[in-house]
Amino acid sequence: MFWLQISEFTAAFVILWLLVFLGGFILLRSDNIVSIEEAYNLWASQYDTNENKTRDLDKSTTIANLSKYDFEQVLELGCGTGKNTEWLLQRSSQVVGLDFSEKMLQRARTRISDKRVRFVRTDLKKPWPIEDGFADLLTSSLTLEHIADLDFIFAQARLKLRAKGLFYISELHPFKQYLGSKARFETEQGLQELEVYTHHISDYLKAAEQNGFSLLELKEAFDEHPDSDVPRLICFVFRREA
Ligand SMILES: C[S@@+](CC[C@H](N)C(=O)[O-])C[C@H]1O[C@@H](n2cnc3c(N)ncnc32)[C@H](O)[C@@H]1O
Repeated sequence: MFWLQISEFTAAFVILWLLVFLGGFILLRSDNIVSIEEAYNLWASQYDTNENKTRDLDKSTTIANLSKYDFEQVLELGCGTGKNTEWLLQRSSQVVGLDFSEKMLQRARTRISDKRVRFVRTDLKKPWPIEDGFADLLTSSLTLEHIADLDFIFAQARLKLRAKGLFYISELHPFKQYLGSKARFETEQGLQELEVYTHHISDYLKAAEQNGFSLLELKEAFDEHPDSDVPRLICFVFRREA
């Protein structure tokens, strides 16, 4: 009888501690779960100044990859703080930047004040509020990893581009994603990881083909002093066929 009482007491004690542990874990996790839009609103004030190899490599790679092309009207998907918008504007007559993070857009508006640029707050997962056939170049840097449905993106790209217009994509390489890399930044509460989707190389090629794009170029970009042989970025230039 005494033995039974002890084991009941022990079981209750263990269950209590399990509940406390689980509750704490759930609380900790729920604190860290924020929407992608909210995460970028939080990240905006440090986005341009944090150490960020992916951001920096994207800038130099995008300039190198696009320098040989001529373009006039550019639609930039996920323009963020306008890191690439400045250069795109130097090379064109008009740029429209789309992004859903108001705080990232505020930074972009402060960085670039030019009547040839328009920043429009919009969710790229919904039809884009831009006239059809507006652009001869569409660019997207480090944004599609946050969007599950590539087919929708390519379908919208087809509408907004003129025939023979170019669609440039620069993304964290899926090989990096397979190894666990993803968009993240430090906060006072700890590391904030963002919701991301892995797009295999074949996913890009399939979505492009299904929406009438041909592949002009596929390039990979590596760190200057790489820790491993894995490329950091994958870049595509697609062309909208008639
Ligand atoms: C890593 S940042 C890249 C910003 C900029 N392209 C660059 O290379 O610095 C990703 C951007 O995509 C935007 N973004 C992510 N998902 C989006 C969505 N569904 N609609 C609109 N913008 C989105 C974020 O707000 C953020 O500004």
